[in-house]
Amino acid sequence: MTDAVDRALDILRHGGAVAIPTETVYGLAADASNESAVRRIFAIKQRPADHPLIVHIASSTALDHWAASVSAEAALLAEDCWPGPLTLLLPRGPSVLDVVTGGRDTVGLRVPAHPLTLELLARFGGGLAAPSANRFGQVSPTTAEHVRDDLGDDVDFVLDGGPCPIGVESTIVDCSTSPPQILRPGGIPDEAIAALLDGAPAPASGAQRASGMLASHYAPKARVEVFESTQQAQQRAARLEDVGQRVELLDASADLVDAARNLYERLRDADRRGCDTVVAVLPAPTGLGHAIRDRLIKAAGLG
Ligand code: TXA
Ligand code: MG
Repeated sequence: MTDAVDRALDILRHGGAVAIPTETVYGLAADASNESAVRRIFAIKQRPADHPLIVHIASSTALDHWAASVSAEAALLAEDCWPGPLTLLLPRGPSVLDVVTGGRDTVGLRVPAHPLTLELLARFGGGLAAPSANRFGQVSPTTAEHVRDDLGDDVDFVLDGGPCPIGVESTIVDCSTSPPQILRPGGIPDEAIAALLDGAPAPASGAQRASGMLASHYAPKARVEVFESTQQAQQRAARLEDVGQRVELLDASADLVDAARNLYERLRDADRRGCDTVVAVLPAPTGLGHAIRDRLIKAAGLG
């Protein structure tokens, strides 16, 4: 495996683009201090320039390089959740490139919990700007094979770290405001963030400042319809099958850890099998249920 990390390191040092494993989804990484390398990430993803990238760092000791200030709340969240599926938005430091932040006054930072990527980051020394390694608006990749399917030869190297154990993206908490706000529910449940912040209000989701939160995100080719109950979903699926559709019934309401881990593979599988419609049962809004609901609702174009 170290051979693979050596290769990834060499490519990143020369301004290349490497897909990296994380505990959430695969990222498409470039040296965050190399403007042309970061531009290439946007080009490969076909992503608009006003959608900023998260900078992945080896540990919270690097925070001072990237952030102009770190609030007490941010320090506490970092201490408790890193390495892990949490992204903090902080006032950007003076050396952070505009291309990374989309010209905003904040920068997104996270320490991912994956041994290969942590080794890579420690040896690289700098930050790696990395969005999810899919084309803009499509389903995020949770295996190295998904990345190859999506990006093919556009990416210089895929560091294969196996399937991503969490399967949905990081929770994004804006710590540039007081109190902090949850902008995207993710791998760390909203309730855990609220508990760490001692009951400070942590809106479930829906705030608009994390761009990329357009309608129709995380979307497969199949149409996605969402329902609150299994019964409603089964009735809808039966009706669509009656009129000749190929339907995938996706019940994400039972085991939340399993549902999150396999969510994107299930959406991809529905496309591989040529399904017309994915009929999904939403989980209750608790724990990982917040993130699963958010992704399915966006995949349905209702976000
Ligand atoms: O789990 C994750 O967060 C994965 C892995 C690879 O780390 N990354 C990820 O990146 O999901 P991406 O780019 O697909 O989604 C990050 C979201 C985007 O909607 C982006 O616009 C938003 O975070 N974002 C990043 N920096 C921001 C900033 N400074 N202000 C507002 N939104 C920001
Ligand atoms: Mg993404």
